[in-house]
Amino acid sequence: MFLQALATLSLVACASAHSWVEEIRVIAANGTFTGAAGYARGNYLRTAAGFSDLTMTYLIPPDGQANVTVVYDSTKLCKDTQQNQTQTTGSPRLKANAGDAIALRYQENGHVTLPWNQPGKPPNRGTVYVYGTTEPKVGETLNDVHSVWNWNGTGGDGRGTLLSVQNFDDGRCYQINTGNISEYRQVKYPHEANQLMGADLWCQQDVQLPTTAPTGKLYTLYWVWDWPTRPSATDGYPDGKKELYTTCIDIDIVGQASSKVQETDDYTEGQSLDSASIESEFDDLENEDTVQLSGTAVPTSTSMMQAETTSSSADPVSTQATSESAGTTVTVTVGAVTAWRTVTEVQVRTVTIDSCQTTGVAG
Ligand SMILES: *[C@@H]1O[C@H](CO)[C@@H](O)[C@H](O)[C@H]1NC(C)=O
Ligand SMILES: *[C@@H]1O[C@H](CO)[C@@H](O)[C@H](O)[C@H]1NC(C)=O
Ligand SMILES: *[C@@H]1O[C@H](CO)[C@@H](O)[C@H](O)[C@H]1NC(C)=O
Ligand SMILES: *[C@@H]1O[C@H](CO)[C@@H](O)[C@H](O)[C@H]1NC(C)=O
Ligand SMILES: *[C@@H]1O[C@H](CO)[C@@H](O)[C@H](O)[C@H]1NC(C)=O
Repeated sequence: MFLQALATLSLVACASAHSWVEEIRVIAANGTFTGAAGYARGNYLRTAAGFSDLTMTYLIPPDGQANVTVVYDSTKLCKDTQQNQTQTTGSPRLKANAGDAIALRYQENGHVTLPWNQPGKPPNRGTVYVYGTTEPKVGETLNDVHSVWNWNGTGGDGRGTLLSVQNFDDGRCYQINTGNISEYRQVKYPHEANQLMGADLWCQQDVQLPTTAPTGKLYTLYWVWDWPTRPSATDGYPDGKKELYTTCIDIDIVGQASSKVQETDDYTEGQSLDSASIESEFDDLENEDTVQLSGTAVPTSTSMMQAETTSSSADPVSTQATSESAGTTVTVTVGAVTAWRTVTEVQVRTVTIDSCQTTGVAG
C-alpha cells in the first residue's frame, strides 16, 4: 500500500519521463545477475541531488529542430555529458569478461504499459539496438553508427559492430498503473518490491560481449532506442517524426569468459525476477562464440503479448478506433499476429502522465 501510494505520487512528478540505461549487470550461466552493477558514462543516479530525467535523457532530433523527419549528420550519438569515457562518483563502470552475457536495464516509463499516451508508435514500442566498439570517438555521430555498423563489422568506417536488436518492450516489464497491460503483467510476472525497482519490473536487453574484446581495455556500447512516429498519426506531423534516445556506456574488460559460460538449459526456472535475465533473450546468446549473434532474433513474445492485450478498451489501437461505433469489429494487425476485437465502448483514455520510477522506496 505504501508502495502504491508512492507510485501514485511519482506519477504526478514525472510528466514526460523517457528512458535510458539505468544499470548494466553481468549474467551468470544460470541466468541470474551476478557481481556489482555498472553504469553509463557521466551517470546521474536517481538518488543524486539535482537529478531530473533531463540529466540522463538524450533526445534525437533535439527539441527545437524544425524538421523532425531528419537526423542531421552533425547530430552526436552521445549526450554531451557522455562524450568522454569518464564515470561519475558512485557510478562505476561494469567489470566484465570478454564473451560475458550482460543485461542493459531500463525503465519503461509508461511507453510499454500506457502506449495510448503516444499515438502512432510501433507496436513493439520501438527497437533497441546495441553497437559495440573498441575505438569510440569523442563527437561520434548517430549517422556514422546507427543502421550503418552491421553484424559482421564491415559497415561504415568499420570501427564497430552491431551486437543486438530487440523490441523496447521485452515482453515482461511494467510499471505499476491501472492500465490493462500493467495489471496483466503484475499478475503474470510478480516479484517482490525492492529498493531499486520498487514494485515496478524494469525492462532489459540481454547482450553478449564479443569474445574478442581485449582484456585490460575499455569496450564501448552505444544503446540506441529508435521510436519513430508514423506519418499522419498525430496532428502537426503529416510526415511522422523520428524520435531516438541513446545511452553511451564503457565496460572494463577484465578477462576472458570461460568457453562454457552459457550452456543450454542452464537457466534456472522460477528464479526471482528481481535479478533474472530474460530467458528467451539469454538463450539466444547460448553457445555463440563470435560477435555475430542471432541478429534476426527479435522475440515474438512481444507480439503475442500485444495480441493478448488487444481486447482491452485501453490498448494501443484504441486511439485509432475513435471513429468506430460501438459494436463494430476492428481488425488489428500487430506484427505477424492478427487479432479481432469488438468495440463495446468507444472511449479515448486521456492519461496524460507517464508512470514513473519508484526508486528509493524501501521495499
Ligand atoms: C546462479 O549462479 C550465481 C553465481 O554462481 C549464484 O550466486 C546464484 O545464486 C544462482 N542463482 C540461482 C537462482 O540459483
Ligand atoms: C524535412 O527533411 C526531409 C529530408 O531532408 C525533406 O524531404 C522534407 O521535405 C523536409 N520537410 C520539411 C517540412 O522541410
Ligand atoms: C572531455 O574531454 C575533453 C578533452 O579531453 C575536454 O576538453 C572536455 O572538457 C571533456 N568534457 C567533459 C564533459 O568531461
Ligand atoms: C557483412 O554484412 C553485410 C550486411 O549484411 C553484407 O552485405 C556483407 O556482404 C557482409 N560481409 C561479410 C564479409 O560477411
Ligand atoms: C482488459 O480489460 C478488459 C475490461 O476492460 C478485460 O475484459 C480484459 O480481459 C483485460 N485484458 C487483460 C489482458 O487484462
